Amino acid sequence: MFSEKLLLRLKHSFSVTVLTGAGISAESGVPTFRGKDGLWNNYKVEDIATVNAFRNNSKLFWDFYGWRRKLIKDVKPNLGHYALVDIERFFQDFYLITQNVDNLHISAGSKNVIELHGNIMRTKCSECGTPYDETFYEVTKIPLCQKCSALTRPDVVLFGESLNAKLLQRAQEAAAQCEVFFSIGTSSIVEPAASLPYMAKGNGAYLVEINTEKTSLSKNVDEFISGQSGKVLPLLVMMIEKMQS
Ligand code: OAD
Repeated sequence: MFSEKLLLRLKHSFSVTVLTGAGISAESGVPTFRGKDGLWNNYKVEDIATVNAFRNNSKLFWDFYGWRRKLIKDVKPNLGHYALVDIERFFQDFYLITQNVDNLHISAGSKNVIELHGNIMRTKCSECGTPYDETFYEVTKIPLCQKCSALTRPDVVLFGESLNAKLLQRAQEAAAQCEVFFSIGTSSIVEPAASLPYMAKGNGAYLVEINTEKTSLSKNVDEFISGQSGKVLPLLVMMIEKMQS
């Protein structure tokens, strides 16, 4: 399943960066966005996950995010998430960049996580950004910010919004400096995350993709590993452990 070249690279590498997408949480029961059972088959992204949707139809917006919060509250990390916690321990520099907002890498125990698209369990003011600890699941009346009285919203990046500049910069640096870059469970469509693997490869990293299906990235990778991340990643941990013993 893993080439000699990848295993040798890992053996001699200090710096590994991983980018994950919705696919890594699929085995936990969190729906992906695209594909056969993807969320965007049932919802139009522009009606729900955009700044305009929040402004013009904030009730529908909150219904959708409240439903996703409830779903995510009850799910647990899977073997793929836990394998990445183990992999982090093998390398001096390890960054886990995720497009997922489901908190599962952090619940699993990963330390160096860059949540590029935010975290759905956090709430913030839509105007002044004040963070709130409360996690609302059902919203009849949208709670207002105690400081500026604007509507509150989940702390996730919406289509039409820029990413947090500092987090994006950290992610780009992590991609540019690593010796091996893994793209796991992402369709590699949404920018700027989709450019990170190219940035890594352009700087000499060995580029590996783990996915159940080929993506637009696949033809550019050094190694494509076909399979569910919850099955492939624990095997990778075993191989790394074997190499080190
Ligand atoms: P997608 O739903 O676009 O892609 C999920 C990918 O995971 C697909 O390529 C699947 O083939 C793959 N996959 C599914 N199950 C898998 C498994 N068990 N193991 C490995 N791979 C598996 O999700 P993302 O690429 O994460 O943005 O989507 C990117 C962004 O688009 C999301 O962060 C979200 C969305 O709209 C925002 O909401 C801003």
